[in-house]
Amino acid sequence: MKPVLSVLGTGYLGTTFAACMSSLGFEVIGVDTDTQKVERLSKGELPFFEPGLEEIVIAELASGRLTFTTDFSKAKNADMHFICVGTPQRDDGLAADLKYVFAAVDGITPFLKSGSLVVGKSTVPVGTAQKIRNQLALTAPQVEVAWNPEFTREGFAVEDSLRPDRIVVGVTSDRAEEILKGAYAPLLDIGTPWIRADLPTTELVKMAANSFLATKISFINAMAEVCEAAGGDVTVLARAIGYDPRIGNKFLKAGIGFGGGCIPKDIRAFIARAEELGATQALEFLKDIDSINLRARQRVIEVVRRTLSEDLSGFKIAVLGAAYKPDSDDVRDSPALDIAAQIHAAGATVTIHDPKALVNARKRFPAMQYAQTVEECLAGADLVLHLTEWAEYRSLDPKALSTITKSPRIIDGRNALDRDLWVAAGWKFHALGRANA
Ligand code: UGA
Repeated sequence: MKPVLSVLGTGYLGTTFAACMSSLGFEVIGVDTDTQKVERLSKGELPFFEPGLEEIVIAELASGRLTFTTDFSKAKNADMHFICVGTPQRDDGLAADLKYVFAAVDGITPFLKSGSLVVGKSTVPVGTAQKIRNQLALTAPQVEVAWNPEFTREGFAVEDSLRPDRIVVGVTSDRAEEILKGAYAPLLDIGTPWIRADLPTTELVKMAANSFLATKISFINAMAEVCEAAGGDVTVLARAIGYDPRIGNKFLKAGIGFGGGCIPKDIRAFIARAEELGATQALEFLKDIDSINLRARQRVIEVVRRTLSEDLSGFKIAVLGAAYKPDSDDVRDSPALDIAAQIHAAGATVTIHDPKALVNARKRFPAMQYAQTVEECLAGADLVLHLTEWAEYRSLDPKALSTITKSPRIIDGRNALDRDLWVAAGWKFHALGRANA
């Protein structure tokens, strides 16, 4: 008999995991306290954009294996309960806010059947799993706690879930490992590496992975700053160092830096947790990683001022991209939207285009202007900023667009456009970290 799974929290992580596990043949109950979200999901409507996911949710709802509910008691037959709630940054500091994690544990506790497993997937500060263990030892001693972080990327979530590059489980018994192997049998069958660790190591793996990725991006953005000062070209530098397999060419795209609901808050939470543990110095460098990242946004704003004027009032600026990365409608801590908002606050009229994130961007900053087409966005602009590297922006026709702006000037904040093409079409082209004529 296949184990029954419950997924607590049907946000981005939970919905993807629930739908993908259902597609592997498991019965999955998704539980969320947000009635509206559950209603929409039950109708097969995704509350966010993720390529390929809606189709899976619709198919799995139809199969009867996947259900969504606000009622924790509906998960009482589950053998495994996966905690997939958010762990945002706290309002009062760098640390992660764990209130949703403990609310999920409290919500499911009365319905935990004997021998079941509570498995954390949310990104948490090291020590959280043990805290949950301590709590459940008093309230539900018949269950075990495990940790199993998620490494999926937005935009590739389905592929990453069904063909992960590794599965990491933190367990305190062989039995818990065997139960988890039951859930992941289809992925083990396709050769996915399996790593068993203790609870703290598992929690740290996720923080370390995101910190390393952040470090790579900030490293190349630091190189971009030096290239700019020295007249070098960071895109060539990245390609050249990336051929060394010890360095690798991924995550070396210089530009306006990282954003999103995960990496920025995770490195801050990691710094805060290290301080609590007395290991402050070990992660001191992550503060620099964070500030290099935020500085990339300021560097673009400086170029905007240098290009137009110190006083931006009265200028019309077109912004291509609002999402924190392409193939996503997520604007959480989006460098693109942050830059747009800062320029707007400085007095410019900002018009934004994004293929998917306009609704979310407008909710966040209703006072800026939003355009449905690139042409509408660029009409009469004094300057264009390319801030999220959607594929469709790479196939724009710079020649045709040069006639609709007031002045054909563009800053490529993602080093993703073909500079020669734009320059040949008459544009003044500024790229971060590259010699700019
Ligand atoms: C990140 C991690 O990559 C996932 O492994 C992890 O599971 C996830 O966080 C999480 O903790 O849930 P994600 O937020 O989807 O995934 O986005 P990434 O693809 O990692 O990109 C993060 C940011 O870095 C984006 O703003 C992107 O534009 C930026 N970036 C990425 C660069 O500026 N340069 C690069 O070379 C790569």
